[in-house]
Amino acid sequence: MRVLVMIPTYNERDNVEWIVSRVRRAQPDADVLVVDDSSPDGTGDVVARLAASDRQVHLLTRAGKDGLGRAYIAAMRWGIERGYDVLVELDADGSHQPEQLGRLLERLHETTDAADLVLGSRWVPGGSVENWPWHRRAISRLGSAYARLALGLSVRDVTGGYRAFRREALERLDLDAVHSAGYAFQVDMLWRSAQAGLRIVEVPITFVERERGDSKMSLGIVVEAMVRVTVWGLRRVRRLDT
Ligand code: GDD
Ligand code: MN
Repeated sequence: MRVLVMIPTYNERDNVEWIVSRVRRAQPDADVLVVDDSSPDGTGDVVARLAASDRQVHLLTRAGKDGLGRAYIAAMRWGIERGYDVLVELDADGSHQPEQLGRLLERLHETTDAADLVLGSRWVPGGSVENWPWHRRAISRLGSAYARLALGLSVRDVTGGYRAFRREALERLDLDAVHSAGYAFQVDMLWRSAQAGLRIVEVPITFVERERGDSKMSLGIVVEAMVRVTVWGLRRVRRLDT
């Protein structure tokens, strides 16, 4: 199994070397692809230096800040073209612990009932969040509950960004049609995966809030997710009616 760990970055200079080295240590056979949107803080230069001394580290540079969703789509295409078997989404800020990646990959490797998509989940038994104030917990749980109801999903953590896809499963989705930029991207991919009939499994993770650098979460990103989920949900209900 050739595994590619995709890490999107925007102004993550203080985190990127640390996260890449943790991935390399936790999963020595996996390759790493950092997708940097020409971060003004020089994140790309740090990664270029790492890539020069490690053949398993790669850098994909994009022209400017264009959203998490489009960065991941570019990374997925890069990985599909090169024939990786498994594509993993992982944040650069340490929230997704590379040391827990083995748990996700195990579920893809199982001989019977292997998953197509494994979600690192904060909201299943055994999962948790460290260093989040109550209002962030509440927003995340409410957001998940709303999306579950609107879309009829059985998954607990709908917006989580720690995920492992089997390549063949990803190839069944129409990536050209994905236009969501922020958190909506994660819901969008999950919704498409469920509609495509993929086998989706949740594995508990401990999500650790970032200590360094700034979150790119904004009100716009939350609003985008809510509007999109509502539109998809209404379409779903109309389909159920007819
Ligand atoms: N290339 C690129 N371009 N990377 C980006 C962009 C962008 O426009 N915006 C954010 N990133 C990168 C960050 O540098 C970081 O590595 C990762 O995407 C997540 O960004 P954060 O700003 O740390 O997001 P968060 O902690 O609020 O969101 C996380 O939790 C959400 C809720 O569960 C992510 O995992 C989301 O995917 C998830 O929906
Ligand atoms: Mn974060």
